[in-house]
Amino acid sequence: MDIGSVEKGAAAFAAASCVACHAVDDTTVRNGPPVGCTYERAVAGHPDFPYSATLADNRETRWTAESLDAFLSEPDAWSGGTAMAGAAVPDQQDRADIIAYLASLALARECSRR
Ligand code: HEC
Repeated sequence: MDIGSVEKGAAAFAAASCVACHAVDDTTVRNGPPVGCTYERAVAGHPDFPYSATLADNRETRWTAESLDAFLSEPDAWSGGTAMAGAAVPDQQDRADIIAYLASLALARECSRR
């Protein structure tokens, strides 16, 4: 997988409307869970978000570059029936950039690895 650009990832995160549902801190719950500490955390790992049962079934998995790439390319294929079904990122470079951005968010703060 190509290494993404944090700067382009921040722009893609806004352009793809991720920001409409996801705050980039670790506390603000919108329609989706905040993603400021998602990178390297367990899937469905934010304590305050009511995840779908299908995503919660993947709690043994961590969000890495590989799992994020698979989820974002086709959320509903990775986790059938996920509440994020409509928000795929079809472009591989956009995904790599968004993943670099998510990693930078988690690196920038003290994140417990729940
Ligand atoms: C319409 C609202 C919406 C949009 C737009 C959206 N998401 Fe989501 N996202 C969700 C919801 C809801 C969940 C939880 C899904 C579930 O419980 O099945 C989620 C889950 C996630 C997760 C897993 C979080 C965790 O704690 O396990 C990541 C990562 C994520 N989204 C990234 C993105 C990115 C990147 C984009 C932009 C391309 C995006 N989302 C666009 C609503 C959205």
